[in-house]
Amino acid sequence: MASSRTQPLFLFLAHVLPLLMLEISGLASSFVVALAGASNQRGNEEAETLLTWKSYLDSESRYALSLWNRSNPCSWRGIDCDLLGSITSLNLSDSAIHGTLHHLNFSQLPNLVALKLSNNSLFGNIPLSMAYLAKLTHLDLSQNKLSGNIPTLLGSLRSLQVLEFSHNKLFGPIPQEIGNLTALLTLALTDNNFSGSIPDSIGRLGNLTILLLNENKISGSIPSSIGNLSKLIQLNLRVNNLGGFLPTGMNNLTFLTYLRLSDNDFIGRLPQDICSSHALKFFSASNNDFIGPIPRSLKNCSSLRRVRLQNNLLKGNIADALGVYPYMYYLELSNNELYGELPPTLIQCRNLTSLEISNNKISGTIPPQLGNITQLQRLDLSSNYIVGEIPKDLGKLKLLLELSLDCNFLVGHIPQEVGALSNLQNLNIAGNNLSGSIPTQLGECSNLLFLNLSRNNLEKSIPIEIRTLQSLQHLDLSQNVLTGKIPGQFGSLHRLEILNLSHNWLSGSIASTFDDMTSLTSIDISYNELVGPLPNITAFHNATIGVVRGNKGLCGVIVGLSPCTATTSKARNKNKNLLLALIPTLGCLLCLLLVLGALSIGCRRVRKTGASSIDGRNENPWAIWSFDGRMVYESIIEATEEFNAKYCIGVGGHGSVYKAQLQTGKIVAIKKLKDSLDVEMASRKAFEREIHALTRTRHRNIVKLYGFCSSSRHSFLVYEYLQFGSLQDVLNNQQIIATFDWNKRVNVVKGVANALSYMHHECSPPIIHRDISSKNILLDEKYEAHVSDFGTAKVLQPYSSNWTSFAGTFGYAAPELAYTMDAKEKSDVYSFGVVTLEVIMGRHPGDLLSSLASLSSASLSNSTTSHWPLKQVLDERAPFPIGDVLGQVAFIVKMAFSCLNAKPEHRPSMQQVSEAISAHCSIMISSSEDLKLEELVDPRCFP
Ligand SMILES: *[C@@H]1O[C@H](CO)[C@@H](O)[C@H](O)[C@H]1NC(C)=O
Ligand SMILES: *[C@@H]1O[C@H](CO)[C@@H](O)[C@H](O)[C@H]1NC(C)=O
Ligand SMILES: *[C@@H]1O[C@H](CO)[C@@H](O)[C@H](O)[C@H]1NC(C)=O
Ligand SMILES: *[C@@H]1O[C@H](CO)[C@@H](O)[C@H](O)[C@H]1NC(C)=O
Ligand SMILES: *[C@@H]1O[C@H](CO)[C@@H](O)[C@H](O)[C@H]1NC(C)=O
Repeated sequence: MASSRTQPLFLFLAHVLPLLMLEISGLASSFVVALAGASNQRGNEEAETLLTWKSYLDSESRYALSLWNRSNPCSWRGIDCDLLGSITSLNLSDSAIHGTLHHLNFSQLPNLVALKLSNNSLFGNIPLSMAYLAKLTHLDLSQNKLSGNIPTLLGSLRSLQVLEFSHNKLFGPIPQEIGNLTALLTLALTDNNFSGSIPDSIGRLGNLTILLLNENKISGSIPSSIGNLSKLIQLNLRVNNLGGFLPTGMNNLTFLTYLRLSDNDFIGRLPQDICSSHALKFFSASNNDFIGPIPRSLKNCSSLRRVRLQNNLLKGNIADALGVYPYMYYLELSNNELYGELPPTLIQCRNLTSLEISNNKISGTIPPQLGNITQLQRLDLSSNYIVGEIPKDLGKLKLLLELSLDCNFLVGHIPQEVGALSNLQNLNIAGNNLSGSIPTQLGECSNLLFLNLSRNNLEKSIPIEIRTLQSLQHLDLSQNVLTGKIPGQFGSLHRLEILNLSHNWLSGSIASTFDDMTSLTSIDISYNELVGPLPNITAFHNATIGVVRGNKGLCGVIVGLSPCTATTSKARNKNKNLLLALIPTLGCLLCLLLVLGALSIGCRRVRKTGASSIDGRNENPWAIWSFDGRMVYESIIEATEEFNAKYCIGVGGHGSVYKAQLQTGKIVAIKKLKDSLDVEMASRKAFEREIHALTRTRHRNIVKLYGFCSSSRHSFLVYEYLQFGSLQDVLNNQQIIATFDWNKRVNVVKGVANALSYMHHECSPPIIHRDISSKNILLDEKYEAHVSDFGTAKVLQPYSSNWTSFAGTFGYAAPELAYTMDAKEKSDVYSFGVVTLEVIMGRHPGDLLSSLASLSSASLSNSTTSHWPLKQVLDERAPFPIGDVLGQVAFIVKMAFSCLNAKPEHRPSMQQVSEAISAHCSIMISSSEDLKLEELVDPRCFP
């Protein structure tokens, strides 16, 4: 081959020429000729190497290299040569070259110093021949499609200063030999599939200033040798599987301006001295499990530009941690455990465009000075403990795109100045105690896409100005005390996709303009006072009863809703004149509905007269009542002779229960609370709202709550009266128990399950009982179960200091309530399990409960566990069940056991339970079989 023939000649010239040049200067001219010849030889071979490679590329790539031809390669595109005409640099970045490097024989390019092929479509492996590039200082193969491992032989490229393999498909470990590249200044392996751990040898790269290993699958912990890389300026490890503690050597990296550790599994503390040289500008450690404080050196780290520490477990007073950052434009600390008040120094971060500290424990008020951070585009302080009013100065934040202050304890009105936020796209102030009306100025925020004002105490009507929010896609005004009609102008919100107006006091019928809201996919208008036909929109066509439940008189095509009479719906479509003629008839129907409603519901709230009663000034004691409350109040006082003991029919945790016959002849049960409620005006509305929601739940297995009354002397709840008393009474009554057979018991369990399933799964938000016990389950004369006191444990609890914060009844409460006050649906499921066993056993399961935990974990073959035959837990006062009934009872016992699982997540939902019982699930056994309880314990999930 040509190369093997020319090589010796070149070597001869290279070694001998300098000597000759010095000693025989007179012959210089002839040597110049010889030199040119030699370089041509070298250049020709190198040209040959490149042309060979070119010939293997596809046609488009060859076209891109069309100027590469037989002439001197030093003039080719992307090529630089040394004085001797040998190629030193090959730079074909961004050249649309498609192919592999397999046919580029690097051993023929020994003088190459720089090889830059980034942003092409190179694929295949990194060729081993690259290891011959002994002079290479700069190697950039980033943004290609290279695959395979980094060859360990590359460890021989001792001169390499820049190594960039980012954005390829390389995989395997980062070889230990990388530590041989001691001259490296930059090592960039971003966005590949590298795995394994960071080699300890990395610590030998003492001159490294840039280390980018982000977006790989690198695991293990950071080697402590990283402390030797004290010249590092950029360190990016984000999005890997790294974990463990950070080595203390990280504190050595004082020149870092750029440190990114986010999206790993790091634990422990952040390096405290990370900004001791005041160099740090970009710092992210989000989405890890870091604990402890924000690094103390950040307090005076005025160089900071962008800080992202969200989604960790950082703790500490935010006022101590944050300083003055004149250049800072982005600060995100959401989802940590930071507390304290927002420091006033924040306003000196004048370039801040984004400030997010949601879901921490921030207290105090929103400093009005935040209005001076005029570059702010996003402000998220949601889910904290912030109190006070929304400062009107926030109206100065003209560039604001997002304002999230939801889930705090803000009070007062929504400031009109919000209308000045003309760029605002996302406004969320839900879940506060805001009152007053919705400001009409909100209509000026014409760029709003998302508006959530739910779960406040906003009153009056919805302003018609809302029609100007032409971009709006999501509107939630639910759970307020809004009144009046739904403005017909809603029809002009052509982009609206989600609309929630539930749990308000909206009345009247829904305007036909709603028919224009074609983009609407989800609508909820439940629990208002609405009447008339539903608009003809797809959102309703696909809806279930849940979204219209609890209104006065809606009609339409939804299953469970009464259909509109044929005449009305046809009239609407066909002939408006006919409709006019029908109006008197409809009016009568409406009257009738109202009368029926008033009769069946008994009493509901007087809206305005009752509103200021609890404080005692007005002494109209009726909080939630529908007709003249004062009269009914007096009637109750009279009927019970001001709660004379002779009318008392029971004593419960929250007070005594009385039976009262009203003047109308109706008998009600009165639960008198131990103390008169002393509720602040602000929280009172929320309280009333919840009681109101409870008065509107209707289920055959739930005791009807008619209303709530409170005066300075008495507070009481008024319930439907049930003759048979509580389940506990029945189980203890030796006469009645004789008739309480297995079918009736199964039916009681089913009734309770249905009631719980309804409250958990068909109410929005779900209503949790928190205190299911045999005392709270009342039976009517047909032994039908009616669950009493639904939701009141929660509603009443925050308003009285005399009730313990522990909601449940001892012996019924789920084990998790011992360490969390946060009752969930699954806590009710546990209590349901206890009550179910109580119904079957005829007594509280007591000891069995404690044995259960061990039963479910013990293996069946373990002979040391005591054996409980099913027979032994069935109430002996009822004859032993046979056939189907036995199977059903056995199934119910089995189901009760899964409800009693110590782990809430392993308990079934009430919906599953209720469905299983309704489906007459049973276990196939015969009474002769001696079924053991252990065999009923199913350690897996229900069923
Ligand atoms: C790396 O360096 C060590 C010693 O410094 C040497 O033994 C080893 O051969 C080198 N590896 C490569 C691939 O150059
Ligand atoms: C590290 O950098 C210093 C100063 O730039 C230089 O003198 C030294 O040779 C470098 N070390 C290596 C191993 O290249
Ligand atoms: C910090 O760097 C110095 C040299 O700059 C080194 O001697 C020391 O071992 C390093 N500390 C750690 C913990 O790595
Ligand atoms: C604030 O940002 C602007 C533009 O982004 C920049 O010109 C200015 O220097 C910054 N001010 C400070 C104090 O960093
Ligand atoms: C906020 O800006 C106003 C002018 O817009 C200025 O009068 C006021 O002093 C500033 N407040 C602070 C605390 O900087």
